[in-house]
Amino acid sequence: MQDRFLKSIAKLPESLATAVVPLLDKDFAGHIDAQQLTELQAQTQMELNELLLALLPIAAALARPPISEFHVGAIAKGKSGDIYMGANIELPGEALFHSVHAEQSAISHAWLSGETIIEDIIVNASPCGHCRQFINELVEGSKVNIHLPSQDTAPLSHYLPYAFGPSDLNISAPLLSKQQHNLILDSNDPMIIEALDHASLSYAPYTKNFAAVVLETKDGATYCGRYAENAAFNPSMQPMQMALSTMSRHNRDFSEINRAVLIESSKGVVSLVGAAMDALHSVAPIELEHIVAEPE
Ligand code: THU
Ligand code: ZN
Repeated sequence: MQDRFLKSIAKLPESLATAVVPLLDKDFAGHIDAQQLTELQAQTQMELNELLLALLPIAAALARPPISEFHVGAIAKGKSGDIYMGANIELPGEALFHSVHAEQSAISHAWLSGETIIEDIIVNASPCGHCRQFINELVEGSKVNIHLPSQDTAPLSHYLPYAFGPSDLNISAPLLSKQQHNLILDSNDPMIIEALDHASLSYAPYTKNFAAVVLETKDGATYCGRYAENAAFNPSMQPMQMALSTMSRHNRDFSEINRAVLIESSKGVVSLVGAAMDALHSVAPIELEHIVAEPE
């Protein structure tokens, strides 16, 4: 089991601790599939929602909050029945708006894993206004059920009444719906090709700045983040933040970053390069490779 889970395991009911420890091997990055959940339920005799709430300490153990020391854990449950954990990240020495919230981490985890609908979000602290707005960008966002440790389950529409969202800006294919915005670039560098593939799947209906980041560690592993815009603009999730959060779910240290690539569209009305460099340089002294690609 990874050391980062030692303290949280001690907080779990004994039957759950016994059942979950075998899943927390060195490759565990917060994904538990539907079959594994069924097995956890059988071993613990817990209802599914009870089990998901009980797993929150594991999600919170993925957090890296050097500023607040406040560990938030979230779980996004996809329509497939799989669950995706996420946790907050704070970037040392940088403006607070560079932070990643646990809910954003969990949602981006589900998105990068191919989920197209998120049905439930389970979180150990009440979702802030920014996260409510971020969730509202999802397909059927107002119907996402929010589960908190000491509240009755309620849909997002309860937490965010009179919501402003993508439909107010005439967007009919919201976050997690299939995006395919092909970008052209002549390269046979595998890391650049990976970034290009993710940029083409990114969600940037407001600026058309289809963008993605790939981070590589010295051993050749890669961690990616896509751009995920928000109708209210400020709660958008930057691709660098998404990539850093992918990396930290995989228990990699930011000091291990060896190469960093940002690809964005030449036709976007904004550029993310400044924001991406600021975030990257707060955790690693690596130059950002900035590549601009033509839309098809
Ligand atoms: N935080 C979340 O991750 N989700 C929320 O909705 C509430 C706040 C994080 C952000 C920051 O890292 C820390 O908690 C303190 O606000
Ligand atoms: Zn939040």
